[in-house]
Amino acid sequence: MTVIARPSTFRIKSFGCQMNVYDGERMADLLREQGITRAADGEEADLVVLNTCHIREKAAEKVYSDIGRLSKAGRKSGRTPLIAVAGCVAQAEGEEIMARAPAVSMVVGPQAYHRLPAMLDSALQGERSTDTDMPPIAKFDALPARRRSAPGAFLTVQEGCDKFCTYCVVPYTRGAEISRPYRDLVTEAQALVEAGAREITLLGQNVNAWSGTDDGGRPVGLDGLIRVIARLPDLKRIRYTTSHPADVTDGLIAAHGEIDKLMPFLHLPVQAGSDRILRAMNRSHTADGYLRLLERFREARPDIALSGDFIVGFPSETEADFAETLNLVDAVGYAQCFSFKYSPRPGTPAASMDGQVPAEVMDDRLQRLQSALNRHQRAFNRASVGKTCDVMVERRGKRPGQWLGKSPWLQSVHFDGDYAVGDFVEVELVEAGDNSLAGRVLRTVGR
Ligand code: 5AD
Ligand code: SF4
Repeated sequence: MTVIARPSTFRIKSFGCQMNVYDGERMADLLREQGITRAADGEEADLVVLNTCHIREKAAEKVYSDIGRLSKAGRKSGRTPLIAVAGCVAQAEGEEIMARAPAVSMVVGPQAYHRLPAMLDSALQGERSTDTDMPPIAKFDALPARRRSAPGAFLTVQEGCDKFCTYCVVPYTRGAEISRPYRDLVTEAQALVEAGAREITLLGQNVNAWSGTDDGGRPVGLDGLIRVIARLPDLKRIRYTTSHPADVTDGLIAAHGEIDKLMPFLHLPVQAGSDRILRAMNRSHTADGYLRLLERFREARPDIALSGDFIVGFPSETEADFAETLNLVDAVGYAQCFSFKYSPRPGTPAASMDGQVPAEVMDDRLQRLQSALNRHQRAFNRASVGKTCDVMVERRGKRPGQWLGKSPWLQSVHFDGDYAVGDFVEVELVEAGDNSLAGRVLRTVGR
């Protein structure tokens, strides 16, 4: 039997969405409990966890090139790390990874990573293992309490998706919609704040589908959860992502007008502007219905910054359909957005639909869409110049004495001075670039 030395350092590389960042932090908590510490920057780790994303083909392919790179580096140095593949590629292609990549000793799905310590024990005995079970919630109960937090923390409140948009793998890789219990979330939020969090972003694939019951047995929605968490005195900011138009409630819209700590930002993907394409995507909303929803958010919070996701080149998308996407973009005036070329995913209905759009057409549409989105982002940033706002100090900038943080509208702001991570400063926004703004600090507000 091959017995491998217990790793003393780890590195976790998370791809894709913020949920993976959260999962990466929780895997780090687990590994630290095993006495394994995070490898310093630039240092080779004994254990590498690739926390993968399956949403588009390009993202999924990255895992194989990373495994190749790690094995090659290991052969050179004579010290190949233990490799674990986690996340959504692990869930979707676990067996294929095991067959294709002998260097991988653990494959663990997003609902099973609490079992990582046991899998590591097997790996040390030379046994390769795969765990892609999807027991709802068990993972969270098995994870250690939160003891560390950066000022900006993520908190997963809901996982999975029941919407089955026809292009999307999430309902298959992350499973059905599951809400974590209310009390667990309040406890975790408290622990995060005690550990130094000043901003919490509530996460879920359909975060606004979260529902629970409070300690008195009364039903609570996401807005109710936000209200309760907002009462934590040392917590300054709350955000949430990603929402679905079908799960927006009156209470959530009202919360934006009533809760100061809830930041004026909404990420509400629409995907396309043509009702025909939205139907083919199984999106359950029309372009007009989406615009009316946004209007209601704007009524509740006039300065709310809007964000969304778009897919160009969904099967059968015509130039006229695409023109409707551009019209919608102009009608909204987004502060920022993500946009992607359609990528056929194995097992999803859209992958076998007629009218797959040629790559050149997708390239051209993506470019035109992105130039429209950039124009709106620039306009939004320019319109912010002259405003005064609080910024949470997040990290050092490139120049000595320069710091970076986020405005309430999630813009990156850079400013000069002598601060510590987690400070809040009041700045005047004095100059706008495409992707960031320069701030002049008026005063330090606190931590
Ligand atoms: N191809 C391209 N983009 C996709 N997304 C999800 N599935 C696909 C796909 N198959 C995009 C959607 C979603 C975001 C997270 O990724 O815009 O909102
Ligand atoms: Fe995927 Fe649609 Fe669910 Fe979002 S709502 S995760 S795009 S299936």
